[in-house]
Amino acid sequence: MMKSGEINYELEKNIEVISQLDGLVGEAVDNILVDPDKCWQPSDFLPDFGDPDIHDQVKLLQQRSEGIPDTVLTSLVGNMITEEALPSYQTYFNLLEGINPERNLLSPSGWVRWSKSWTAEENRHGDLLNKYLYMTGRVDMKAVEQTIHRLLTNGFDPNTGGDPYQAIVYTSFQERATKVSHVNTGKLADIAGDPVLGRICKQIAGDEARHEKAYKSFMSAIFEIDPNGAILAFEKLMRKQIVMPAVLMGEGGSNPSLFTEFSAITQKVGIYTGWDYARIIEHLVDLWKIESLTGLNDVASKAQDYLVKLADRYMRLADRMKAPEEVKLAWLK
Ligand SMILES: [Fe+2]
Ligand SMILES: [Fe+2]
Repeated sequence: MMKSGEINYELEKNIEVISQLDGLVGEAVDNILVDPDKCWQPSDFLPDFGDPDIHDQVKLLQQRSEGIPDTVLTSLVGNMITEEALPSYQTYFNLLEGINPERNLLSPSGWVRWSKSWTAEENRHGDLLNKYLYMTGRVDMKAVEQTIHRLLTNGFDPNTGGDPYQAIVYTSFQERATKVSHVNTGKLADIAGDPVLGRICKQIAGDEARHEKAYKSFMSAIFEIDPNGAILAFEKLMRKQIVMPAVLMGEGGSNPSLFTEFSAITQKVGIYTGWDYARIIEHLVDLWKIESLTGLNDVASKAQDYLVKLADRYMRLADRMKAPEEVKLAWLK
C-alpha cells in the first residue's frame, strides 16, 4: 500500500507513457471508430412503428424468435443487461489516471475523444438488444429493468485501480470476450431460425472487434515503449483474474447468485466458456509476443514465465470443468 504523500513512480511513469500515445489514440478515433452519420444504428434492424403493416412485422419478429431456446434467450438478455450498464464502464474509463488530466470533456485530446466516441458506439448495443428483446414478447421486461437498475446502482470494479496499463489490457480482453459472446449468440440464433437476430448479434460483434483491435494496438504501443511495465501490468491483471463487467447484477437483490446462474448458462450453451477465457489469454500472449521479449528486468522475466504458461493452465481447468446439468433461467416470462 502507498502511504499518502508518497510518489508512486510506477504509476507516474505509466501516466507519462499514456500521454505519449495521445496521437495514436486520436488516429484510432478517426480511423477505427465510425462517424455517427455513417454508422449503423439500431433502427436499421428494427420494425418502424410508423409503417401501416407494423403489426404484421412485429408478428413476424415474434414468430422468428419463438424457436430460440430459453437458455439462449437468457444468455442474450444477460448480454444485453451487461451492455446496458454502460454508464459504469464510461465512469471507470474516465477515472483512469492520465486519460483526462485537464478534466475537460470537450478537450481535443485523443484519449478524451476516444472515451466519448467508444462509449457512443457501445451505447447502440444495449439500445438495439433491449428493443429487440422487448418486441419478442418473451422477456419479463420489468425483471430485466430491475437487474439493470441494480447493476448500475452497484457499479463495477475490475481491480485495476487507476492504472491505465492494466485497464488497457482489461479492455483488450473484454472487447474480445464480448465479441466471442455475440458471435456465438448470433450462430445460435441462426440455428434457431431467427436470421434477423443472427445479423444483429454479428453486427454488434463487428463493433466489438473494432474496439478490440484499437485497445490491442494501444497496448502494443505500450509494449514497445515500456516492455517491463507492460508485461507487469498484464501479469498483475491476470493474477487477479478478469472480473466480468456484470458480476454485481444480483448483489443486494432478491437473488444474489443471479450472475453465477447467468454464467452457468453461457457456459452450458457455449456462448462464453472457460475455453474462451483460456483462448483469449493465448491470443493476447501471442499477439504481444510475450514469449520472445528480451532484455527484461528480473520481475518482468518472472511475469513472462507466469504468462507464457497461463493459457495452458486455464485450458486444463476448462477441460475439467463440467457444464452444469441443470441451469436456472432468468428474466423470461
Ligand atoms: Fe458492446
Ligand atoms: Fe465493447
